[in-house]
Amino acid sequence: MTMNRFLTSLVVKFKAGHRSISTVSQQEWRRRGRMMTSSTEVAEKKKEKEKNQKGDNREVVKASDGTVVSSYWGVSRRNIKREDGSDWPWNCFMPWETYRSDTSIDLSKHHAPKTYLDKFAYRTVKILRFPTDIFFQRRYGCRAMMLETVAAVPGMVGGMLLHLRSLRKFQQSGGWIKALLEEAENERMHLMTMVELVQPKWYERLLVLAVQGVFFNAYFVLYVLSPKLAHRVVGYLEEEAIHSYTEYLKDIRNGKIENVPAPAISIDYWRLPKGATLEDVITVIRADEAHHRDVNHFASDVHYQGKELRKAPAPLGYR
Ligand SMILES: [Fe+2]
Ligand SMILES: [Fe+2]
Repeated sequence: MTMNRFLTSLVVKFKAGHRSISTVSQQEWRRRGRMMTSSTEVAEKKKEKEKNQKGDNREVVKASDGTVVSSYWGVSRRNIKREDGSDWPWNCFMPWETYRSDTSIDLSKHHAPKTYLDKFAYRTVKILRFPTDIFFQRRYGCRAMMLETVAAVPGMVGGMLLHLRSLRKFQQSGGWIKALLEEAENERMHLMTMVELVQPKWYERLLVLAVQGVFFNAYFVLYVLSPKLAHRVVGYLEEEAIHSYTEYLKDIRNGKIENVPAPAISIDYWRLPKGATLEDVITVIRADEAHHRDVNHFASDVHYQGKELRKAPAPLGYR
C-alpha cells in the first residue's frame, strides 16, 4: 500500500509538472507569437509606407516628352496642341473628334407617316410636345438643356443593343454601333454646351432623374420589341428638335434672347471662329439634329424593307 501510494504521488507530481511546463511554454509561445506578429505588422507597414512613397514619387515623375505620368501605371495623356499651337484644354474630347457642322443640310425634310406604326410614332411625339410647351413656354435655353438630357439616350441604347447583338450572333454591325454611339456622344456635347449657358435648378435636376429613369427603360423595351418604331420615334423627335431650335434662333435674332458669346467648349468642338456667338452655336446644333433626323428615319426605312441594319451602310464620317 505504501509503495502504491508512493508511486501514485510520483505520477501525480509528474503530471502536475508537465502541465505547468506545457502552460509556460504555451504562454511563452503566445508571447513570442505576439512579438512576431507585431514585428511582422511593423515590417509590413514599413514596406507599405515605402511602396506609397515610391508611388507618390512616380506620380510626379515626368515622361520623356514632358507630360506628367498620372499614375503608377504610367497612364498619361499626350501633350496635345491646337492648330494654332496653343495647348488643347479639353480632356472630354480631342481635336480629331471635332468637326464643322454641315449647315447646308435641308432643315425642312419631313417623313410623311403612312403606315400605322409611323402614324403612332408621329402622334406620340406630337402628344409629348404638349406638356413640354406648357412647362417651358419660350424659355428655349432651358428647354434645349433639358431635352438634350433625353436626346442622348436613344443612340446609347440602340448602340448598346446592337453591340450585344453583334457579340451574341458573331456578326459585324455594318458600322451602326459606332454611328449610334456617335449620335449619343454628339447629343451629350449639345448638353455640355447648353449647360454652360443655362444652369439647371434643383427641381429641374430632379425632373431629369425621373425622366431618364422612365425614358431609358421605355426606349430599351421599345428597341427590343421594334427597332423600326424606335428609330421612327427618334426621327420625329429630331424633327421637333429642329423646330424648337428654329424658334430659339428667331428669339435670338429678334433680340428677345441675348446673343451672348459662344461657350469655349463649343468653339473648339464645332471649330467655330473665335468671336462666335450663341446664334452660331444654335445654328450648328440644329444642323446636327437634322443629321440625326435623317439617320434615324433611314434606319427605320431599312427595317421597313425587312433588312437588318448591318445590311445597309452606316452613315459614318458625318464629322
Ligand atoms: Fe441635340
Ligand atoms: Fe438630335
